[in-house]
Formats: sequence, C-alpha cells, structure tokens
Amino acid sequence: MASLGEDLLGVVNKLQDLVVVGSQSSGKSSVLENIVGRDFLPRGSGIVTRRPLILQLINIPNDEGSSAEPHTRESTSEHPEFGEFLHQPGRRYYDFNEIKREIEAETSRIAGNNKGINRAPINLKIYSPHVLSLTLVDLPGLTKVPIGDQPTDIEKQTRNLISEYIAKPNSIVLAVSPANVDLVNSEALKLARQVDPQGKRTIGVLTKLDLMDHGTNALEILSGRVYPLKLGFIGVVNRSQQDIQGNKSLAEALKAEQEFFKFHPAYRNMAHRCGTQFLAKSLNSHIRDRLPDIKARLNTLMGQTQQELASYGDMHFSGKEHRGSLILQLMTRFAGSFISSIDGTSSEIST
Ligand code: GDP
Ligand code: NA
Ligand code: MG
Repeated sequence: MASLGEDLLGVVNKLQDLVVVGSQSSGKSSVLENIVGRDFLPRGSGIVTRRPLILQLINIPNDEGSSAEPHTRESTSEHPEFGEFLHQPGRRYYDFNEIKREIEAETSRIAGNNKGINRAPINLKIYSPHVLSLTLVDLPGLTKVPIGDQPTDIEKQTRNLISEYIAKPNSIVLAVSPANVDLVNSEALKLARQVDPQGKRTIGVLTKLDLMDHGTNALEILSGRVYPLKLGFIGVVNRSQQDIQGNKSLAEALKAEQEFFKFHPAYRNMAHRCGTQFLAKSLNSHIRDRLPDIKARLNTLMGQTQQELASYGDMHFSGKEHRGSLILQLMTRFAGSFISSIDGTSSEIST
C-alpha cells in the first residue's frame, strides 16, 4: 500500500503541469525563473530556449517547517537546494550557474549550435524547501522566419510542439504576451485559445510593461476588459537584457519591479495585484485549490479499483508489473473523471 501511495503522489505531481507559451523573446524563461526564485535559465534576445525544458520542482521539508514559498531566499548550507538532470542521474548541482551552463551544453548537444530546435526535452529536477511541488515546462517560442539551421517549416514544428504540451486538459497554460505588442497579435493567446477556448485554465501574463510607449498603459487588459480569462491577467516587469548583462540579482529585480508598480500613476492602485510575487502567489493558490479535489478523487478511485481487483483474486495484487497496471488503470480513469469535471463535458478533449 505504501508504495502504491507513493506512486499516486507521483501521479498527482504530474497533474500539476504549468506550461509557458508565447512568441520568441516575449519573456517566458524570465517569468519561469522568477517563479522558481533562482537564476538558472538561459535567457536573452533571439532564440535561446531550443529544446523543451521539463522542470520538476520538488518540495523537500526543512527543519524550520516553513511552507513552500517560491521566493528568493538564499539557501543555507544546512538546507541546500539542488538540481539533478535526468541525463546525468545521481549528479547533484548545488551551483545554479552550473545548471544554466549544463542546460546550454545539453541544448547544443542535441539541437546543434546554429539556432536549431529539437523536440527532445531536457528533464531537470530541482529539490528545494522553497518551492511547491509542481512541474513547469519552458518551451521554444513561436517564430515565423527560419534562420540558421532551422527547417523551412520552423513555425509549424514549433506550433505542433507547443500544442502537444498545452493540450493536456489538466495543465495550466501560462500565456505570456509582451505589453509592447498589440494583444490582438498575441501568439500566446492564439495558442491558448485553441486548447482552452473558454479561458478556464489559462493565466495571462503581460511582460515588458516597462517598455510600453510613453502615454500608453495596460490597465484595460490587466483589469480583464479586453480579453476574457477566468484566471485573469497579471502584469510583470522582468530583467532587461541590460540587467542580465550587468548581473542584476533577482532580489534587486523584484524590488525594482515592486517600485515600478507602486509608483506608476496607472498601476499604483492595483499594485498589490501586479508583479512576479503576486503571480507566484496566485499560482500557488490555483494549484492548492485543485489539490484536495485531485486527492479526493484519487482516493475514491483507488478504493474502487482495489475492490475490483480483490474480486479477481489475490494473484493480481502481487508483483511490480501488476502494481504498474493498477496505476495505469487508475490514471486512465482519473484522467477521464478529471477532464469531464473541468470542462463539464469530455467532448472537448479531442481538440
Ligand atoms: P523567451 O524567449 O520568451 O524565453 O524570453 P526571455 O526570458 O529569454 O527574454 C527575452 C529578452 O527580453 C531578454 O533579453 C530579457 O531580458 C528581456 N525581457 C523579458 N522580460 C522583460 C521585461 O519585462 N522588461 C524588459 N525590459 N525586458 C524583458
Ligand atoms: Na529569447
Ligand atoms: Mg526562453
């Protein structure tokens, strides 16, 4: 039973996917990094993210028993945070700069050095007392014109790749749009709409508020009057290319961001609902909100499935392979029940 429970926990983790989509250089990697609260993702102008990065955050308890708050607390030597890549099992990275270098090296190893993209994901786990257990997916952005080693149908390939990740009905889509581009041209929202036409599992993130034309602002969008999303739009200001080159720390950047909102004539009244910290908090609560539901449903299904299996006789309980098939059955049923409860119908799944 204990091992079954552990497997189910693994299943629950897998159901927490948060997938970041948007056009190239809209700020996707910057947003993800801010959510994790550590510097470790390659970012920059042009195509930087060239393979999917499946980033599994795993909450490990610390002695002070503090709860998961994905913010910029520095790790101490007693409670180190570390990363581990699937392609280097057993090797622990305590230095997040090294994690970034390894992502770059592993990207080039498969996707080459000339701007090519590759659909084979890089899998990275980060263990930390300051994160909520959750899987984040960073993806290449959409581009229209092939460059370097990119195939002529780069746009189509990237679109298909992104669609695969966000099609999972229990993933949350973080649709990143830069505020200095008209929202009607947002590739992020176009992609999200295809898999979530009613805007139930899409969170709009508006980046680059600091780069909007003087005299314009995004108040209408942020207050939900332009584009309907149940979970709303959150405005953020990430580090600029200059900040990155000057090694501006995450903590400094967060402080500057808060001040931006607090003193901005258009945003100061809604400053408490803007910025990276508010985004991280909202994500935590969306995910927490869904957890009890997920767990309750798993329990019910587990009971039913066990009863059923018991009626087949004892032999079906023994052995790892049988446990595997039990899990598979549970997952299949679970997916079905979860999907229909989200959409009220399961007919949308095939989109
Ligand atoms: P991605 O290609 O969507 O992953 O975007 P990145 O996170 O790599 O960011 C692309 C470029 O935009 C980098 O040079 C960032 O520094 C810059 N950038 C991202 N967000 C912001 C923002 O809110 N404000 C400013 N000024 N620059 C940003
Ligand atoms: Na980029
Ligand atoms: Mg990126």
